[in-house]
Amino acid sequence: MSASPSSIDPAVARDLLARAREVRANAYAPYSRFQVGAALLAADGRVFTGCNVENASYGLANCAERVAIGKAVSEGAREFAAIAVTGPRDAVPTAPCGACRQVLYEFGPDMPLVIPSDNADGYEVTSVAALLPGAFGPAALVAGQGVR
Ligand code: THU
Repeated sequence: MSASPSSIDPAVARDLLARAREVRANAYAPYSRFQVGAALLAADGRVFTGCNVENASYGLANCAERVAIGKAVSEGAREFAAIAVTGPRDAVPTAPCGACRQVLYEFGPDMPLVIPSDNADGYEVTSVAALLPGAFGPAALVAGQGVR
């Protein structure tokens, strides 16, 4: 069963956020100047990080979350326990963009999603499913098969 958003160990949340902040420093964001970092915890304990990678052809920018997912899946990880995402400022919440919500939904709709906050904990926890109500996912594709 997937973890509920509130079930993440605070130490794990803080560690993932720290890893996301660390990798954020590698962001290639000369156009937006908006640096993003993500740290994705796989079920087997491995952590896959990602930063945004922009391009002179602006529309080809890769978001941090999708870089992390791509790294993880290409290394054989498909089950995830949690993800942390941070934008440029440590106390300002940066929720994943719509495209990243869709991609994260594929692999971990209910995994805890940790984002920075100015609250006492320094972070808040939600889930992709909460941020993408009525999502189109693998189940919807199966349910729709056979319609021509
Ligand atoms: N960005 C991410 O990396 N993740 C998100 O979920 C939001 C946006 C990046 C894309 C672009 O490089 C910069 O932030 C500004 O949009």
